Amino acid sequence: MINSKISGVGYFVPDNVIKNSDLEKMMNTSDQWIQERTGIQERRWVKDKTLSTSLMGTYAAQEAILDSGISKEEIDFIIFSTLSPDYYFPGSGVLLQRNLNIKEIGALDVRNQCSGFIYGLSIADQYIKSGMYKNILVVGSEIHSGGLDKTPRGRSVSVIFGDGAGAAIVSATKKNEGILSTHLHSEGKFAEELALIKPATTFWIDKIIEDNNEDGTGYSPVMNGNFVFKNAVIRFEEVIYEALDFSNLKPDDISLLIPHQANLRISQYIQKRLGLTDSQVYNNIMKYGNTTAASIPIALKEALNENKLKKGDILCLAAFGSGFTWASALIKW
Ligand code: UT7
Repeated sequence: MINSKISGVGYFVPDNVIKNSDLEKMMNTSDQWIQERTGIQERRWVKDKTLSTSLMGTYAAQEAILDSGISKEEIDFIIFSTLSPDYYFPGSGVLLQRNLNIKEIGALDVRNQCSGFIYGLSIADQYIKSGMYKNILVVGSEIHSGGLDKTPRGRSVSVIFGDGAGAAIVSATKKNEGILSTHLHSEGKFAEELALIKPATTFWIDKIIEDNNEDGTGYSPVMNGNFVFKNAVIRFEEVIYEALDFSNLKPDDISLLIPHQANLRISQYIQKRLGLTDSQVYNNIMKYGNTTAASIPIALKEALNENKLKKGDILCLAAFGSGFTWASALIKW
């Protein structure tokens, strides 16, 4: 029986720190409001315009490759999760293949927003368990800052999001360890509750030229924050229990829960619902804001750097976001 495990993790965030006090100067907001509602103190926004989503993903991938001890030539497949690709097409996976200067392996882009990293992990898990591949590079990378409305109109969305990238190598193992299960869900009827509507094939170049923004969606994300929040707390709990039930485990058995870093209040609510202690839940949204597909691998790498996981521990990953999509993974470290 072949199992799949995370054999290496890496991350990259741009140097440029944007504190809440910096946002106070751009839009009608306050450090107090942002901290009370989200827990965020600062985030990274790219300043160096030579940085791209694929390049940040490359830096994170290089660290993950080094961490896993494999050579880059041993990577069999690339999975790249992002909602902020370099180009509308081609996807960012092929750009990562080019940046890494590796052989012509397959590269797949995943479009599942905040759940993108776990979706990617799930695909990698299945390819490895089937015996098709031995080492898969899974990347989540986002540059949100270029697409955010930084005027007062955009404050309810723009204060939340940050830029960053995270990566993991998923490798085959014959030992009784690694990914126990993954669980994926979607509910497209709420697609427009958190979305970037323009530009797209429903809003193509001729419309863009004439656009007076009468529908108010602009060219930056729109979010029905309250509605997303209410759905998030329900789905997070559901999908974590789904993963635990699959392995006949209880919340108590979780050594570490890394929730997608959407809002500290969401993480705290889930922690309370599951009856977990502070040391069982890892959060770093305070430093990076919501980095969508990158948030889980960034948090995982920081948790590892802080020795929060030891061999045999049960790690739970869970995410909810635009789509709506939500997902979980349970891993025996
Ligand atoms: O990762 C993908 C999934 N995303 C999420 O899970 C996000 C889920 N939603 C949230 O995290 C929260 O809904 C937000 C943080 C986005 C907003 O927090 P909230 O507690 O739901 O606030 P609200 O939208 O109910 O707004 C409360 C007030 C409003 O003013 P009034 O109507 O009470 O006068 C807003 O206009 O706060 C106002 N407001 C702001 N004030 C200062 C909204 N944004 C800001 C802001 N600064 N940035």
